Amino acid sequence: MQFKHFLQFKDFSREEYEYLFERTRWIKRAFKDYRQYWPLADRTLAMIFDKNSTRTRLSFEAGMHQLGGSAIYLSTRDTQLGRGEPVEDAARVISRMVDLVMIRTYQHEVMERFAAYSRVPVINGLTDEYHPCQIMSDIFTYTEFRGSIEGKVVAWIGDANNMCNTWLQAAEIFNFTVHVSTPPGYSIEPERIGLSGHTHFAVFDDPHRAVSGADLVTTDVWTSMGFEEETEQRKKDFADFCVDAEMMALAKPDALFMHCLPAHRGEEVSTDVIDGPQSVVWDEAENRLHTQKALMEYLLLGKVDVNK
Ligand code: CP
Ligand code: NVA
Repeated sequence: MQFKHFLQFKDFSREEYEYLFERTRWIKRAFKDYRQYWPLADRTLAMIFDKNSTRTRLSFEAGMHQLGGSAIYLSTRDTQLGRGEPVEDAARVISRMVDLVMIRTYQHEVMERFAAYSRVPVINGLTDEYHPCQIMSDIFTYTEFRGSIEGKVVAWIGDANNMCNTWLQAAEIFNFTVHVSTPPGYSIEPERIGLSGHTHFAVFDDPHRAVSGADLVTTDVWTSMGFEEETEQRKKDFADFCVDAEMMALAKPDALFMHCLPAHRGEEVSTDVIDGPQSVVWDEAENRLHTQKALMEYLLLGKVDVNK
């Protein structure tokens, strides 16, 4: 049986994303109009969480219910996965009982091993390396507010983390440029993050220069999940990497601000920026629901009639 996984942003083509965004618009409209749409009736999603989550759990669980199916939450803390059951065995068993699996874990390689033994599509709900569902929502959100992201400049300020890596993959697919500014010692590793070249990003030591003229400014927490023991050191190392009003003023006047959330006001972003008029973080969060519903529909049903 042929099926696809969604483990990295580059697993899908530009054409597939354009299709998903068209479906997202339709699915979002139906949701807002209280129109029942149950294409996944009797389908079950297993959600495996090795790390905490609010948005990812809620958007997948609510999304699956809204499409007529069911979602089951599995935490590694209270399943056999947390007691050393091989991930390959868990994949073989879980994928015989459900139609779709979403995983949030630490090493990307663990999720790849699960996917290799799964009989059903696997979705990356965040790993240390990538967060493709979030960037899908972010690009959809940009498109809603400003039209195509092609040819635009996205300024990434802060840690070279899972979000940054995924923005860099997305730039190659949607043909935009990422201006990356990270503190010394926290640089991106282009060879390790599945890029096909060096054409869609530029690196800046000074975050102000990275933001200059940008169409979208985005950042994330200084300490991602799994790196908590580095928190105090990171607070010192990232002190000059706060997106504040002065930095934001260097971007284009109509630039948007995004943050995947949760945010630490006063660290990576100032309160006046995240709560200010250029910030679209609440739409960005809401669109996780709509884009992931389109994703689940696509992974389980393939392309459906877009006029449905
Ligand atoms: N942005 C995001 O993935 O949020 P959660 O960690 O709450 O799922
Ligand atoms: N980079 C953050 C994103 C959280 C949604 C983390 O991995 O903790």
